[in-house]
Amino acid sequence: MEYMYNYSITAHLYSIYGMIAVILFNLFFTYKITELPKLRRFMLIFTPMGSVMLAGAIFTGIIMMAAKHLEFTLANIVMIVLSIFIIILEAKRSKSLRFTTTATLQTYKTTAYKLLGIELGAIIAVVIFVIMVR
Ligand code: HEM
Repeated sequence: MEYMYNYSITAHLYSIYGMIAVILFNLFFTYKITELPKLRRFMLIFTPMGSVMLAGAIFTGIIMMAAKHLEFTLANIVMIVLSIFIIILEAKRSKSLRFTTTATLQTYKTTAYKLLGIELGAIIAVVIFVIMVR
């Protein structure tokens, strides 16, 4: 059981690094790409990648919760709330991209910067909080 728990922590952390990497890529290419069809094609690949990383963090989190017999700490509750929060923000972002036209591309970019910035800030804040209360 011990090694499963330790392995999950490592996998959990790599999923979180992966989430941060995908958000940074999204921010960079949202800034770089100026044509809507190109941006849509890029997001078609990258949005699911972000979901896979988040699913990895949630899945390894669930494994660890099971391994410690569902002994929830405040940190665990904060992490779960953060995961739900990120799912909602990502749904908002992909919905706003769906209804974007070439004329409103700049508006989408402003929304995307805001949402991705909030996601990145929230993840870093939770990581600092979790490590502080550990
Ligand atoms: C995006 C969301 C998440 C972030 C940023 C996050 C962050 C972290 C961090 C930084 C650690 C500490 C690792 C260490 O000790 O070195 C950790 C551990 C842990 N996380 Fe998460 N986590 C997230 C989602 C979740 C979810 C959804 C769950 C539960 C379903 C969860 C359950 C746990 C558990 C059980 C631990 C091991 C420490 C403990 O026993 O409380 N995490 N997480």
